[in-house]
Amino acid sequence: MITIDRTRLRSRMQREQQRFIDEHPKSKALFERAGKSLLSGVPMNWMRKWAGAFPPFVSEAQGAHVYDVDGRRYVDLCLGDTGAMTGHSPLATIKAVEEQAHRGMTMMLPSEDAILVAEELQKRFRQPYWQFALTATDANRFCIRLARHITGRSKVLVFNWCYHGTVDETFITLQPDGTAGSRRGNIGPPIDPVVTTKVVEFNDRSALEQALTAGDVACVLAEPVMTNVGIVHPQPGFHEQMRKLTQKFGTLLILDETHTICTGPGGYTRAENLEPDMLVFGKPIGAGVPGAAYGFTAEVARAIAARDHLEDCDVGGIGGTLAGNALSLAAMRATLGNVLTSKAFERMIPMAERWRNGVQKTIDDFHLPWSVTRLGCRAEYLFSARPPKNGAEAHSAMDFELERFLHLYCINHGILLTPFHNMALMSPATEEEDIDHHSHVFREAVKELIS
Ligand SMILES: Cc1ncc(COP(=O)(O)O)c(C=O)c1O
Repeated sequence: MITIDRTRLRSRMQREQQRFIDEHPKSKALFERAGKSLLSGVPMNWMRKWAGAFPPFVSEAQGAHVYDVDGRRYVDLCLGDTGAMTGHSPLATIKAVEEQAHRGMTMMLPSEDAILVAEELQKRFRQPYWQFALTATDANRFCIRLARHITGRSKVLVFNWCYHGTVDETFITLQPDGTAGSRRGNIGPPIDPVVTTKVVEFNDRSALEQALTAGDVACVLAEPVMTNVGIVHPQPGFHEQMRKLTQKFGTLLILDETHTICTGPGGYTRAENLEPDMLVFGKPIGAGVPGAAYGFTAEVARAIAARDHLEDCDVGGIGGTLAGNALSLAAMRATLGNVLTSKAFERMIPMAERWRNGVQKTIDDFHLPWSVTRLGCRAEYLFSARPPKNGAEAHSAMDFELERFLHLYCINHGILLTPFHNMALMSPATEEEDIDHHSHVFREAVKELIS
């Protein structure tokens, strides 16, 4: 088995940093200017995480490609960390947004688009009732609130190293001694998440049962396949067990399909015939126009209606003036109807398999103790010989220094990977030559480290 020489890694990283700086004079100038009006020179804190000394500033994005102000073109395998899984600016969505923009963008009144989108979501996910939000974070928050409201319980249960957006209750991890604690990097929690949340490992049936037994958990919030700490697949039978246990203990099951929509048009839920009580879908639903949806069963709908309070329904903690706005619904209608179609997935999934095969070949040829996993049109490599079976295993297989070198090497050779772990996503516009380019660059990057 090969081990990475850290001195060599650091010297290669320095060389790549210099190359990035030399080749991005306009981005550098914009970054320096941005530092005078934007905290850390970026509009959102996580943009600092791009592997270069500063992020490339974008001039344009089209289909599967991004262009920066320095005139460089990138194969975009990050795709806005799933927000642009549709490819950038698909024509059908542009047209719908443009038409709607001339006819009013937000009215706080329903339009027929809301029904069309809900009907399409019904067909895809089999949840009969739907509501809208602007982000998947908000949709998750609203589901948690509703679950507490319905069950009269306070606790939420999540899986170790999950990510569901900036939802306070979810920033909790298992510590080395097995107790739960605030997640590393959790900024200004309103309350210690240990008070609100229980956390167990994914694929650990007995830990889940033990945590639910007390009968104080309102809901389990889970991605059906973990995607935010690398990809962690459920072990055979885990979903069935989770469904049975949640039903046994009167806990609602919320599946967050925001990333796992990469599995197919109805996400992992439809592909595997899962039956959650609530389901969340955001990010690419409007091709990047802010929007998210959450659906639920007839039983949940009845329970909500039974507790409805007309006079206070606008201030109960579920809402958002712009949620379900006409522009966002027009974007969702066009994107679901014309872009994120079954036909698109038939193209995207083999592309991800091609990407996986390219990475696997390099891993095999160089005897690297790494693994690569695919879920639908998403794939990811991790620095462990075997795919992880839970969040702790996945997290311990991360290597920030190595990851940054591989990402920066890719950027310098015209490829964007998501700046969080090593994920690559395919859009309907991604071509075989884009994938083969990555296979070649990944191999060259590995050669830099070990030859
Ligand atoms: C599974 C999952 N759910 C929800 C979210 C939150 O999405 P947003 O940041 O658009 O609110 C994310 C973001 O990465 C996610 O990965």
